[in-house]
Amino acid sequence: MKLPRLKIRNLSSEFPVIQAGMGVRVGMAPLASAVIKCGGMGTIASVGLGDIEKSKSNYEEESCELLAKEIREARRLTGGRRPLGVNIMVALSVYEAVVRAAAQEKVDFIISGAGLPIYLPGYVGDHDIALIPVISSGRALDVVMKAWKRRYNREPDAVIIESPLCGGHLGFSMEQLAHPETRSIEILLKEVQEVLRNYNSKIPVLAAGAISNREDIEAMIRLGFDGVQIGTRFICLEESGMARTGKELYVKAKPEDVVVIQSPVGLPVRVLKTPLVDRILAGKKEPFYCPYLCLRTCDRNVVPFCIAKALLDAWRGDAENGLFMTGCDVEGVTEIVSTQDFFNTLKGETAPAAAKPSFTKSGLSR
Ligand SMILES: Cc1cc2nc3c(=O)[nH]c(=O)nc-3n(C[C@H](O)[C@H](O)[C@H](O)COP(=O)(O)O)c2cc1C
Repeated sequence: MKLPRLKIRNLSSEFPVIQAGMGVRVGMAPLASAVIKCGGMGTIASVGLGDIEKSKSNYEEESCELLAKEIREARRLTGGRRPLGVNIMVALSVYEAVVRAAAQEKVDFIISGAGLPIYLPGYVGDHDIALIPVISSGRALDVVMKAWKRRYNREPDAVIIESPLCGGHLGFSMEQLAHPETRSIEILLKEVQEVLRNYNSKIPVLAAGAISNREDIEAMIRLGFDGVQIGTRFICLEESGMARTGKELYVKAKPEDVVVIQSPVGLPVRVLKTPLVDRILAGKKEPFYCPYLCLRTCDRNVVPFCIAKALLDAWRGDAENGLFMTGCDVEGVTEIVSTQDFFNTLKGETAPAAAKPSFTKSGLSR
């Protein structure tokens, strides 16, 4: 198979791969621009760019300024090549301001999940930006499409389906996550295709979750997806923002090192089992100081740890105190390679594979 190009709105990339938005500071300008230069779509994560350790008088202003700086840096590193996007979580307390800042900087696309991005088109206004909601069910897509049609007479430019095998925050209950086969990517695709049929919509559909290599991408294309979004595998590309000691934890990790815990975001989150996670699972409370509320859904008086601090510690490579978000397929992260090395594996054609009825990998159930 030759991998098809990915076309979203007026954007196009040589390979059908979007680099997932990865906060805090994992998916920054160096990674996004490297992906773009190699023929994928690059994404800057907008969460956690500010300095959480100092009390800042204006968190919103700082978040917007630093995102604008990062977008300009990515444009500089790519010489203006596209498509460059931003990931903005609906759960951010500064969501509207950050969306407006990204639109002002004329990013090419905005990916928005961790909540339903009902008001996203309104905040973006007339800017020519592809809008890509992230959903985990056909019902969620239906709600977004209905709202966008009624309020803005607009449909999404593409949709990303995050399966229960994904890294980061998960739009599923703990029960569903214990039985991921009941909400498999195949089932979710069928639900989404039915919703799109009802709206007579032909937007591209992308898959996310445990996609680590060319074989996985081909499997998704064969299932009927137009492309994929890759997170975990890209943490361990040389250009990602995470410290090398942190990347090495992923390379060494085994499937049994992956667990799901409840996040202060209010959703389950899949992470590597580190000393911090052991403490959280044992019911201990981590000391923290919250100078401002970065997540609308976080109750700082109740949550056992500060996710912003824990992700910042992970970014620094602190194995004791860091929260290392991960997808199920840590075994797909075999070594730290350059972005170019990864994309080289996507070039050319592979022999036709025997048709696989479903996307199954050993050990992918946590
Ligand atoms: C370290 C890490 C950070 C992430 N940060 C974000 C984020 O800031 N916003 C978001 O919408 N999703 C985030 N995600 C989810 C990814 O965008 C993506 O959908 C997911 O990682 C895909 O699954 P995979 O990791 O198995 O490839 C994150 C995932 C990881 C692993």
